[in-house]
Amino acid sequence: MLAKSLMTVALLAATTIAAQAQGAGDPVKGKAVYKRCVVCHTDTKGGSDTLGPNLFGIVGKKAASKPGYAYSAPLQAANITWTEANLIKWSAAPQKMVPGNKMFFAGITSKNQQADLAAYLATLK
Ligand code: HEC
Repeated sequence: MLAKSLMTVALLAATTIAAQAQGAGDPVKGKAVYKRCVVCHTDTKGGSDTLGPNLFGIVGKKAASKPGYAYSAPLQAANITWTEANLIKWSAAPQKMVPGNKMFFAGITSKNQQADLAAYLATLK
């Protein structure tokens, strides 16, 4: 009995470590990172487009697919799906990922913050 529960604990610990090694972000920390985006984006359901498009439900969507928002030609042509991995790449360097797009944001350098932010964006559904 004791041996069995010890094994369960060990297994759980191993799983947690594996998840962290993969860079799984922390959505709570990501919400704080997201403060850097609010000048240009809303993130609530049905929120209006401001300088940038509303980001509710962004994970899983095709880039430049929100009706009614005037995307740049480069982003429309980019053929990207917003997976968490792509959102990490985008938040790190949007102009490097899609040159000529109209999101003027230098990028987030911290890998942890990029992953936390992507994890937060994944909760917007
Ligand atoms: C200075 C304003 C500004 C800031 C700050 C900004 N964005 Fe944007 N964002 C834009 C604009 C403008 C676009 C539209 C880009 C285009 O059409 O080329 C955009 C587009 C996007 C898209 C693509 C949306 C879609 O529907 O395909 C994502 C995702 C995104 N931003 C995430 C973020 C995140 C996350 C942050 C914070 C780290 C952020 N943005 C910060 C202005 C901004």
